[in-house]
Amino acid sequence: MILRRKTAFNCWWAVALAVFVLLAALLVYMFAEGFWIQVKQYEFASPEVPPEFDGATIVLLTDIHHGWFFSQDRVHDLVKTVNDLKPDIIALGGDYIYGSTDSKYEDSCFADLAHLIAPLGRFAVLGNHDYGSDPSAAPRAIMKAGIELLDNRGVQIEKAGAHLFLAGVDDLQVGHPDLSSALEGAAPSDLVILLSDNPDYAETLPDGAVDLMLSGHTHGGQVTLFGKWAPHLPSDYGQKYRTGVVYNRATTVIVSNGIGTIFPPMRFFAGPQIVQITLRHVGGL
Ligand SMILES: [Fe+2]
Repeated sequence: MILRRKTAFNCWWAVALAVFVLLAALLVYMFAEGFWIQVKQYEFASPEVPPEFDGATIVLLTDIHHGWFFSQDRVHDLVKTVNDLKPDIIALGGDYIYGSTDSKYEDSCFADLAHLIAPLGRFAVLGNHDYGSDPSAAPRAIMKAGIELLDNRGVQIEKAGAHLFLAGVDDLQVGHPDLSSALEGAAPSDLVILLSDNPDYAETLPDGAVDLMLSGHTHGGQVTLFGKWAPHLPSDYGQKYRTGVVYNRATTVIVSNGIGTIFPPMRFFAGPQIVQITLRHVGGL
């Protein structure tokens, strides 16, 4: 009788220990996943892509969230990884910092981002985390780094006599996005690429105004149910803009999982991404 009770007691301890070890392993995995940055490749093929830009690459780098959970050393390594990809254009999607309302993290983040190399240009927009107690901190750091801030404006990017139009809008959540100002100067025949931290902005676009939109903000859900569903997603459109390529009624959107995290500094089946898009010209125009 005494022997049987002891056996049952040992069995419960073994189950409790197994559950504890499993949970600890899960937490370690979730913490580690945030360090495994992958290069996610996409191709964007369209007759609007000028033949001169066929094969040109854009790297989208977004949601670095430098600060408490993403150190300066990691920003430094990130810049090296991106430069090794030899992109033609670099687009920075916003949310450069986390965990501070002053300018110190914006300054230290862009001290490293200043070393990004892209022959056709480096461009940036602001995300919702870039409006602290000093909203001028991020624009100041971006400009000091020699990176072009697309604050409701666009630029023509030239290559071999052809051009495409890259525009950026202010943050949807805390800024004042203005599409008509951003697209001023774009011709109807131009390939128009729009950079917006928040992918929900795609829902406001008129048909045909933008060929491709590049976004982050959702972190791929950050912690998901095996990459299928995220319990918390900062979007008004459910899981639609969680990650990857989204075709909505007006345009094509590529949503990156981003690089860093908000609290808790963990990811699960939503690993950090550097997004690289290769432009492809297809016949038809
Ligand atoms: Fe973010």
